[in-house]
Amino acid sequence: MLKLGVNVDHVATLRQARYRDTSHGAHPEPSPLEFARQAIKAGAHGITAHLREDCRHMQPHDIVALRKLKAPLNLEMAVTPAMLAYALKLKPAHACLVPERREEVTTEGGLDVCGAYNRVKKTVLALQSAKTLVSLFIAPDPEQICAAAECGARFVELHTGAFANAKGASTLKRELHRLETGASLAHSLGLKVNAGHGINYDNIRYLYTVPHLHELNIGHSIISRAIFMGAHKAVSDMLDLLEGYHP
Ligand code: PXP
Repeated sequence: MLKLGVNVDHVATLRQARYRDTSHGAHPEPSPLEFARQAIKAGAHGITAHLREDCRHMQPHDIVALRKLKAPLNLEMAVTPAMLAYALKLKPAHACLVPERREEVTTEGGLDVCGAYNRVKKTVLALQSAKTLVSLFIAPDPEQICAAAECGARFVELHTGAFANAKGASTLKRELHRLETGASLAHSLGLKVNAGHGINYDNIRYLYTVPHLHELNIGHSIISRAIFMGAHKAVSDMLDLLEGYHP
């Protein structure tokens, strides 16, 4: 069964747009924790949140609260000594190593595992020896997938941004093919395959041809639908679509 991880970062984005300073005693809203609770009630299999080094969206107290929920927390984090020390203390069920650039609104590219091999491997091994399963958020490129397997990571999360942004049938076909061959390669190397970024209620059906998918991590489209229909409906609609996955 294909699992759904709900990324609640953009709930924090909206909250921080108004309540950057919570010291004035106002009730900061919307709450990523409450969104996560409702997502879990609707059947989400896990919750994902990215604690950025500049804390501009998620705050450390959000992460601590999300960690206590009954669904597993997937902590997105940069490959830095400070984030490693943080994650070793937090002990989330999963960690997803992502690249981080200050100027981006959301995570825009894949991690360059080949280019930062030693740093990534050290982080993967340290987290996994503390029983946090690690995935690497990478473009569906053979070199990156092979490097992820060599690092000892248990999961890759294939970056679906190029697929989601594809304009025109031939680009879409090419990007889907990259995901299909990337997922096959990752699976053949013993990796579990997640995917995420830019997946929505329309484009998800194209991913039905991508083999071996274990979990999709979806944030923006679910949170957007939740504004009009509520979190429960937004999550259960997406879960219904996941049921169409029979590669
Ligand atoms: N997976 C990763 C690693 C991400 O960083 C993000 C957020 O950019 C997502 C999945 C979810 O992307 P979206 O919000 O576009 O669904």
